[in-house]
Amino acid sequence: MKAIGHCPVYSPDVRVLCHRVQNDRIFRQLCVTVCMQDKFEPTSVGKNPWILLSKCPINVRSVMGDLSEALKEATKDVHQQAENTEFMINFQKGHVTLHEFKLVMSSLYYVYEALEGEIERNKENPVFSPLYFPLELHRKSALEEDLEYFYGPQWRKKINFPQSTKNYVERLHHIGRKEPELLLAHAYTRYLGDLSGGQVLKKIAQKALQLPATGEGLAFFTFQHVTNATKFKQLYRSRMNSIDFDSATKKKILEEAKTAFLLNVKGL
Ligand code: HEM
Repeated sequence: MKAIGHCPVYSPDVRVLCHRVQNDRIFRQLCVTVCMQDKFEPTSVGKNPWILLSKCPINVRSVMGDLSEALKEATKDVHQQAENTEFMINFQKGHVTLHEFKLVMSSLYYVYEALEGEIERNKENPVFSPLYFPLELHRKSALEEDLEYFYGPQWRKKINFPQSTKNYVERLHHIGRKEPELLLAHAYTRYLGDLSGGQVLKKIAQKALQLPATGEGLAFFTFQHVTNATKFKQLYRSRMNSIDFDSATKKKILEEAKTAFLLNVKGL
């Protein structure tokens, strides 16, 4: 790659040369990296690989690219972690017991009860309102249906609420009440995940647990009002990108998304 001049964002005195212009995807990727790690990746720029974000003279937001892309990039490692927990590895092989599955569904019930309670609280708040899709996404009532199927009508008295799930729930309430601009990170982590890997897990669970083909026990994985998951995810991403956050808030959202993933790793 040929250097074409001084970086348009970083001041000449730090002597970082960018290979492409501001809107280039690679360049935006660099900016995402900077925002996440406070440094350039050595492989991405020329001779002077390190630069601190704090030295950047210009607001990084303008070149940071879409929030949806930044979220995907920022959560790459934690996503891998989430895929590779012992439970998930076994699950993907179809090694899951009904007992384990019921425990996860119980924890998910508490998580969605908290998440959707906080979403309702913030549904008119501009930092979240474009992402308010209760009919298409909300899972609480689907989980109630599943838990009734697994535990019977007295399910509320029978389900577990482990400490790790309580921590997740507490974080959700804190965010919803005190830092609603971070609620997006939690909604993104759960709903886009459910619309992605969740669909694979549904088929595995159905087979491994010999659940009825008619869908009982799997309402959680069934999005009746989403006809095309890929298109819906695109819409959701564009809604996330439409919300006007400053760069500091964007950074906090990226951090919160990582926290959300880790709460899933530990809390379910
Ligand atoms: C065995 C476990 C998992 C598998 C096999 C899996 C698989 C996948 C796949 C294939 C995609 C890409 C779909 C696409 O590009 O359209 C995806 C996206 C995603 N997954 Fe997972 N996943 C797993 C666990 C999780 C967990 C535990 C979470 C978080 C709670 C999660 C959250 C997400 C999110 C947020 C996305 C959307 C990424 C984006 O497009 O920005 N996944 N997953």
